[in-house]
Amino acid sequence: MGRLSREDVIRFSDQYMMTNVARWWKDDPVVIESGKGAILRDMDGREYIDLHAMHAVASQGYSHPKIIQAVKEQLEKIFVVATDFYNEPQALLAKKLAEVTPPNLKRSFFVNSGAEAVETATLLAKRATGRPGIIALWGAFHGRTHMPRTLTGFSKYKKGMGPFPYGVVHLPNYYCYRCPLGLEYPSCNLQCARMLDDALKYAAPEEVAAFIAEPIQGTAGNIVPPPDYFRIVKNILDQYGILFIADEVITGFGRTGKLFAIEHFGVEPDIMTMAKALGGGFPVSAAIASEEVGTAFKPLDHYSTYGGNPLAMAAALAAIEVIEEENLVEKSAKNGEYMLKRLKELMDDHELIGEVDGKGLLIGLELVKDRETKEPAVEETAKFRIELRKRGVIIGPPGWTGSRIRINPPLVIAKEQIDRAIEAIDEALTVVERE
Ligand SMILES: Cc1ncc(COP(=O)(O)O)c(C=O)c1O
Repeated sequence: MGRLSREDVIRFSDQYMMTNVARWWKDDPVVIESGKGAILRDMDGREYIDLHAMHAVASQGYSHPKIIQAVKEQLEKIFVVATDFYNEPQALLAKKLAEVTPPNLKRSFFVNSGAEAVETATLLAKRATGRPGIIALWGAFHGRTHMPRTLTGFSKYKKGMGPFPYGVVHLPNYYCYRCPLGLEYPSCNLQCARMLDDALKYAAPEEVAAFIAEPIQGTAGNIVPPPDYFRIVKNILDQYGILFIADEVITGFGRTGKLFAIEHFGVEPDIMTMAKALGGGFPVSAAIASEEVGTAFKPLDHYSTYGGNPLAMAAALAAIEVIEEENLVEKSAKNGEYMLKRLKELMDDHELIGEVDGKGLLIGLELVKDRETKEPAVEETAKFRIELRKRGVIIGPPGWTGSRIRINPPLVIAKEQIDRAIEAIDEALTVVERE
């Protein structure tokens, strides 16, 4: 039993916390008490199938006994060691990451959140190349501290928060369903990727340190690029000696049916950022780089007091072992394919669905008022989310259009839980369409 009633939890939070979060389902908020696997339980004892996984963090499921045990064991030895000292879990995790990431990536830097990993990656790119500029994409999300917010390609997070660091240029993203260049795939010949070459000529390529992108845009709505997108981009970058930073904060560790999403696209990044599922819920993140780039920082060029914290390192090691031992990458690929198929079948009965696309258990379901005009069904999406919650299924907020539902459950979700969630989605859509 906790110390507060559900009502007091809500009252204290609303009264004493900054209003920086848009608490969901305001009329009947979900106050989480516990979780197990892919199921969340609230303070009233109601259970929910989770299609959100706390922003794609809880890939290993809630309260995984192996992660709990690893943290407990480390807790009893020591739970703070500054990065300046050697410590065993940190050494083990650095070695493990060098083994499981794309073969060229060897050197890790540990921090605590996705935004810090992005900060680290951009500072490293600048230090390694001696150049100031970064190129990012429209619709990208890289976090909310200053540099990541600058790189983020959505105006909502910029207004009133500037000035932003100079030297960042944004290019159109790979959102084929709503192509920002007004073209159609494949007759577009991937103009969005090829225009990087022109953009660089205008921006002076010798001033550009790195190009940063999510291999699949998560916060934008789980948007998958065309298969050749990153090959074209990487070719251009290589011509100018510009580094490629793959931001795998959401997509890493099996989320997309490969251990890292960039593996779908046949290129190797020079730097990769990771967080979320890395710790399976424990706050830990990292940037990993090639030998050449990853040795560019000199001591104290960059530092984090909590970076490499032994509890975080132990949690991350256990979290990666869970992914390996429980075949969560394969499970994500298989269950993702199944879920995608079931959702596509719903298109026959629900005109509201304009597109379903995804890889592994990272799926975007776009609701439109009209399949021809593709007008975003924003109010319908908001209602759908409420109806789904009434049926015991949790989903997070939609992507940038306000109408692209993001489905990313814990990777441990069972097939019968997926079936129940699909049934609820079917019912919720029916209710929304009737209104
Ligand atoms: C791709 C990507 N990068 C960075 C971040 C920032 O992570 P954090 O909120 O842990 O700072 C996020 C968060 O959703 C993300 O999706």
